[in-house]
Amino acid sequence: MYLIRVFILALIFDGSTNPAHPKHIGSIDPNCDVVEVVKDAYESAKMLCDQYYLTSPEVEIKQVNFEGPSDPIHIVYVPSHLYHMLFELFKNAMRATVETHETSLHLPPIKVRVSLGREDLTIKMSDRGGGVPLRKIERLFSYMYSTAPSPVAENTRNAPLAGFGYGLPISRLYAKYFQGDLQLYSMEGYGTSAVIYLKALSTESIERLPVFNKSALRHYQTSTEADDWCIPSSEPKKLGKYGYSV
Ligand SMILES: Nc1ncnc2c1ncn2[C@@H]1O[C@H](COP(=O)(O)OP(=O)(O)OP(=O)(O)O)[C@@H](O)[C@H]1O
Ligand SMILES: [Mg+2]
Repeated sequence: MYLIRVFILALIFDGSTNPAHPKHIGSIDPNCDVVEVVKDAYESAKMLCDQYYLTSPEVEIKQVNFEGPSDPIHIVYVPSHLYHMLFELFKNAMRATVETHETSLHLPPIKVRVSLGREDLTIKMSDRGGGVPLRKIERLFSYMYSTAPSPVAENTRNAPLAGFGYGLPISRLYAKYFQGDLQLYSMEGYGTSAVIYLKALSTESIERLPVFNKSALRHYQTSTEADDWCIPSSEPKKLGKYGYSV
């Protein structure tokens, strides 16, 4: 994980100018057009989805800017990070949508809402891909967890739509890197909304790095969990007549 972060840092602050994007500072775009990145990510994911399933859902994008409802939304951000998160979410939403609506003629569209507030830039992507039970949501963020067939065994020529099992955890890492977050809200039987939270102000997009030293580790290890009825204590308890601890 540490290496991934060092790698990302090196890419961001490489100090070079990109001839294709002369206004970028390293990898940072001081005027990143969020909706444009959403469209780019959709097109790339759609290409993969079409290759794999021979069909793909449409997208509906809506935006709202607190300064003026239809003003374009620009933030200071690393467009490649944003693109990566959206690309992963689109691939997941497309796969879920196509697999859930295999037998129907019409695929429900993926709906994206981009909203800029004073503090947060929020992007919500909602699909109607059948959803995931609440019990499994946290598991989806585990590295290597995937319900898709292994892409290596499947096909080595085309880029796979799913199967590596790190789309969500890496995307959440990208979001958290600049003080944001990525969360999934699902309604099993209906669909899933993935929400990316980013800081609207660049002054708050401070790079977040874990502290790898012994005292930090001690701090995390000594935090004691409160003992309650849903997190049983590791100590075996003596149970009374009615099964309550005594
Ligand atoms: N929108 C969604 N609807 C339903 N299930 C989802 C959705 N997004 C993710 N999942 C589930 O979460 C699992 C993990 O997603 P993740 O993107 O991390 O890996 P993956 O899609 O399997 O592989 P890859 O790393 O190639 O993207 C998926 O295999 C799928 O079962
Ligand atoms: Mg994925």
